[in-house]
Amino acid sequence: MVNRIRKAVMPVAGLGTRFLPATKAVPKEMLTIVDRPVIQYVVDEAKEAGIEHIVFVTGRGKSTIEDHFDIQPELEETLKSRGKNAELEILAADLPPAGGVSFTRQQAPLGLGHAIWCAREIVGDEAFAVLLPDMLMRSKPGCLSQMVSAYEKHGGNVIALEETVPEMVHKYGIVALGAEDETGVEITGMVEKPKKEDAPSNFYISGRYILQPEIFSLLEKTTPGAGGEIQLTDGMKALAETQRFTGVRFTGTTFDCGAKAGFLAANVAFGMEREDIADDFKAELKKLGPDWLKGLVS
Ligand code: UTP
Repeated sequence: MVNRIRKAVMPVAGLGTRFLPATKAVPKEMLTIVDRPVIQYVVDEAKEAGIEHIVFVTGRGKSTIEDHFDIQPELEETLKSRGKNAELEILAADLPPAGGVSFTRQQAPLGLGHAIWCAREIVGDEAFAVLLPDMLMRSKPGCLSQMVSAYEKHGGNVIALEETVPEMVHKYGIVALGAEDETGVEITGMVEKPKKEDAPSNFYISGRYILQPEIFSLLEKTTPGAGGEIQLTDGMKALAETQRFTGVRFTGTTFDCGAKAGFLAANVAFGMEREDIADDFKAELKKLGPDWLKGLVS
């Protein structure tokens, strides 16, 4: 029997340089997919997987994330006095329970591994999840729920996997694969951003992890790797020397909302799925004309 995964870490201290100038004053995690911040969708995925406490690792200029997960008394009073009950319900549904979120600061963006390490005191000595909040992973059940099932069977550490083409492996943390069962595949090796000829597979580590707390002491010892940043993959490689890692092949759709194209595609996909606006949205898109549509399917 493994212990339940109760806590999730969401690192939000990155600079979001791929999305400048939008991210000069607005955190990229607060950019909206239809009418909800990207991060709200990822929090929903965590809640669905049974997460009770979310630790946000923030940095300067990210205070709107804290405000988003708090009450807004003036706004709520105004909505109440105007009888806007539907809007009040929307706000209430997204509000975390009191004490259900914590914030800690990464004082300098030294890398994803360093950001996770900054959560060590709040996570403590228990296995925990990590969700990258700019990766929208759309599936039913959610990606983290699928990973929790693998964790309940195999224990240890679990990572989400997606497949790419050989020409793109140099952008990702790539894994070597071992024995597989219906819940997941054993990871036998990891390499960060390999050359095409050195990659052990085309499967890369995507934006979701379940990690054992021993990762923290290993991250503390990890020196800056690719890009001069403290890489989570390097800490995981050290952990894999003594603990099992299981990969879950994610079969849904992932939108990298930290990149412009992924963000725009997510807005189209989620907009089309929203009953309240889908018809209007399609009508707007049709205004672009048949040539635009042809360009999309050719
Ligand atoms: P990214 O590399 O996608 O985020 O990191 P970034 O650095 O903000 O983006 P660009 O490349 O400059 O556009 C993945 C996640 O890890 C967090 C980011 O906020 C993002 O959610 N992160 C990254 C940190 O919290 N701290 C870091 O030092 C680096």
